[in-house]
Amino acid sequence: MINNNGKQHCVIGMIGLGVMGRNLLLNMADHGFQVAGYDRDKAKVESLNTESEKKKVYAASTIDEFINLLQKPRAIMLLVPAGKPVDAVIEELLPHLQAGDLIIDAGNSHFTDTDMRAERLEKVGIQFLGVGISGGEEGARHGPSIMPGGPKIAYEKVRPILEAVAASVNGDPCVTYLGRSSVGHYVKMVHNGIEYGLMQLIAETYDVMKRGLGLSNNQLYRMYDSWNNSELNSYLLEITRDIFNKVDEKTNEPLIDKIKGVAEQNGTGMWTSQSAMELQVPVPTIDIAVSMRDMSVLVTEREQADNLYQRSIPLISVDHTVFLKQLEDALFTAMIIVYAQGMALLRVASEKYTYDLDLEAVARIWRGGCIIRAKLLEDICAAFRLNNNLPNLLLDPKLSQKIMTQQEGLRQVVRLTSVVGIPIPALMATLGYFDAYRSAWQPANLIQAQRDYFGSHTYERIDAAGTFHTEWKKDVRI
Ligand code: 6PG
Repeated sequence: MINNNGKQHCVIGMIGLGVMGRNLLLNMADHGFQVAGYDRDKAKVESLNTESEKKKVYAASTIDEFINLLQKPRAIMLLVPAGKPVDAVIEELLPHLQAGDLIIDAGNSHFTDTDMRAERLEKVGIQFLGVGISGGEEGARHGPSIMPGGPKIAYEKVRPILEAVAASVNGDPCVTYLGRSSVGHYVKMVHNGIEYGLMQLIAETYDVMKRGLGLSNNQLYRMYDSWNNSELNSYLLEITRDIFNKVDEKTNEPLIDKIKGVAEQNGTGMWTSQSAMELQVPVPTIDIAVSMRDMSVLVTEREQADNLYQRSIPLISVDHTVFLKQLEDALFTAMIIVYAQGMALLRVASEKYTYDLDLEAVARIWRGGCIIRAKLLEDICAAFRLNNNLPNLLLDPKLSQKIMTQQEGLRQVVRLTSVVGIPIPALMATLGYFDAYRSAWQPANLIQAQRDYFGSHTYERIDAAGTFHTEWKKDVRI
């Protein structure tokens, strides 16, 4: 039993003392907040109590004890797995809460669940915030990027805590109020979609350099290090570099070569693609990234196909220095384009769901703490500062100049790599997206003709208003 002298003194409580919950709580305590944690798992409670001995953290293993630690009106953050566990915790909590209390769901919840929960809780007078948090274990402990959505009045209650614990860039906290209802979780979902895209693109450059150029892990380490010191500077390149330097304790060989090539996923990338399909926003790089994780799981089938279509992959015959610069340009161009796809999705979602989202603010809070933080986000911020209604980052004058000078690298990489048969579907899809987006003319006239031919779906003409149908089999000229 915790001796709190009967005082309900904690400004915020955390339910779920897993890696993220525990670290975020310790982060809050580091900033001087008295906080309470609750988990049914006694071991997690004990371990937190031990670690936080001198800090203002109180961990409880019963809900009564936990509630008793909180100041009123209460602010309770949930960091439990998305889906049913969130509803189960809310059910458990509700009998203990009063009107005016606040629940903050800080997990990777689907935005439609957040909308439903907000509506339901509003009816019983409980405030609800849906908050995306990015940065993994390290971020939670020392400064994540935080993406909150819900009633502004509820955000204001916890704003000092969130601003204190968030990462900061040039003194700017990587958290800001994003807007109503589920916007925080929507933005986090798209963050993860971009994360999937970037990770797949980087993985493809690894394949190109490993199988296409025969580079060693040591050379790969140096390559990623040099890229990370360029315009490509980003958290994902930084960790990629470090991965190639890690030795397996068991075998004393490079660890990367001991890891099975089967990628898992928690669903947020897939949700981004699903939502984009629904809103009819093309995000092919993200789609391919999700598909390639699915492809990676088909181990037996891929082995069979590998046998069936036996081949040896020859090295790409190129000047390494020239080609590696092209690969760097290719990755940079593709990085801009995957952010462009994610941002275009956010813009349309903002209209559709009346989020009234400020895209510059999104880019600003992504500059630090989160998994997709990158130097490039400064240019993305600048693009939205110049025009907050920019439909697509590819239309920004400064970014378009960068793409114009570097897209040739992407084209050369796709050309030379496809000849030897190394799979680079995300790089290819990204180039295809770019070429399609910058095509005023597209062959969709043929699709319309086909639709009208087999289904009388009608078509529009370029030289007259209205819709038209043709009897395609009549008077055919041979
Ligand atoms: C973050 C991450 C995090 C995510 C993991 C794993 O922003 O901190 O996006 O939320 O859960 O990256 O995601 P997958 O299991 O889908 O790869």
